[in-house]
Amino acid sequence: MRTQVVVIGGGPSGLLLSQLLHVHGIDSVVLERKTKDYVLGRIRAGVLEQVFVDLMAQAGVADRLHAEGFEHNGTLIAYEDDSFRVDFRAQTGTPVVVYGQTEVTRDLYAAREAAGGNLIFNTEDVAIHGAETDAPYVTFTVDGQEQRIDADFVAGCDGFHGISRQTIPLNIRREYEKIYPFGWLGILSETPPVHHELIYASSARGFALCSMRNENLSRYYIQCSLSDSPEDWTDAAFWTELKRRIPAQFADSLVTGPSVEKSIAPLRSFVTEPMRWGRLFLCGDAAHIVPPTGAKGLNTAASDVHYLLNALRDYYENGSDQGIDAYSQNALARIWKAERFSWWFTSLLHRFPYQSEFDLKMQRAEIDFLRSNDAAQKAMAENYVGLPY
Ligand code: FAD
Ligand code: PHB
Repeated sequence: MRTQVVVIGGGPSGLLLSQLLHVHGIDSVVLERKTKDYVLGRIRAGVLEQVFVDLMAQAGVADRLHAEGFEHNGTLIAYEDDSFRVDFRAQTGTPVVVYGQTEVTRDLYAAREAAGGNLIFNTEDVAIHGAETDAPYVTFTVDGQEQRIDADFVAGCDGFHGISRQTIPLNIRREYEKIYPFGWLGILSETPPVHHELIYASSARGFALCSMRNENLSRYYIQCSLSDSPEDWTDAAFWTELKRRIPAQFADSLVTGPSVEKSIAPLRSFVTEPMRWGRLFLCGDAAHIVPPTGAKGLNTAASDVHYLLNALRDYYENGSDQGIDAYSQNALARIWKAERFSWWFTSLLHRFPYQSEFDLKMQRAEIDFLRSNDAAQKAMAENYVGLPY
């Protein structure tokens, strides 16, 4: 088999890249280790930046997103029994859009399939060869048969546990990491959201987040111990703990119900540099992870796709290597800012082990400053709605 770009990973970054390449006349093959249903079953991100929505439109897959996504013009930040609102639209002129990663992925699969795109599922033993040459190729096994695809380029969109990043030699690759001493326990429930906007809550018992997917589907998270497992938490225990962490006004009106999904995610900040080695490019979680507090995981994956698409178009349409040579630098410049914002927002709202009285006063002073200072709100809003590409 031969193609122009082999895309490893059929998550949101791989699918979006493949669809955008198709729109611009560039051929690709997507290799996915799991099944489509498995990928669609993962409940993950829920908030899209406007630049992401624009990219979906460029890919020709934004109809349902425009019809069913919810524009959010602001968010509430709660602490103890009080709360204040940061108005994204007033501060930046831009809203964010609530539309689940599951739906993004579903729309992208539908578009790739409608266009006759080549998606290969259940691939095993994927290996990248000759990335540092002009003739890279990828080998893999599917249904017990070994296959080979020759290509011009390889896009490593295979998430944090994928093989693409590991292909870059250790003497070239540099990794930066911060592991947080807690996780997020999340549940999805078929109940109306407690508020029409998200609530990010700091409390003495730890962080909580009230989010949503639609009018009758809510997503809630609480900061939990890394040693907890979802089975340790009954639905009743979850609701009780959530209510203790949000202002009484919301706790009193919270509609509870059985969870339809419950999972724990550890929190991590991680960046690998460079994001390109020869003809291999890393995109999304394969290259970087943020703690979910700033809602940046999926959005940073999309910005990489934007930079890589433009680099590849520059190559195919203008015969220029300039975009390719600048890819890692361009992508990383935006990534580090999203890393900073996610780290800051996580540090602001969570309870950390061994926090001193002084540390708590600093957190509180920073929340008070954000509440009362227009410039601070503007900076927060600009980062939350997404820095320009
Ligand atoms: P992924 O979605 O990880 O997709 C990578 C794909 O590659 C997967 O389908 C995988 O099966 C496939 N793959 C892996 N290895 C191979 C291989 N060797 N060969 C072929 N295919 C392979 N972000 C938020 O903004 N908010 C959230 O609430 C949030 N919650 C999250 C919860 C969890 C448990 C996780 C893991 C992430 C969460 N994120 C969240 C982050 C967000 O979901 C990711 O940033 C986003 O999924 C990145 O997309 P991606 O396509 O780069 O990677
Ligand atoms: C979600 O709805 O899953 C969600 C929303 C905002 C975040 C993280 C997760 O910051």
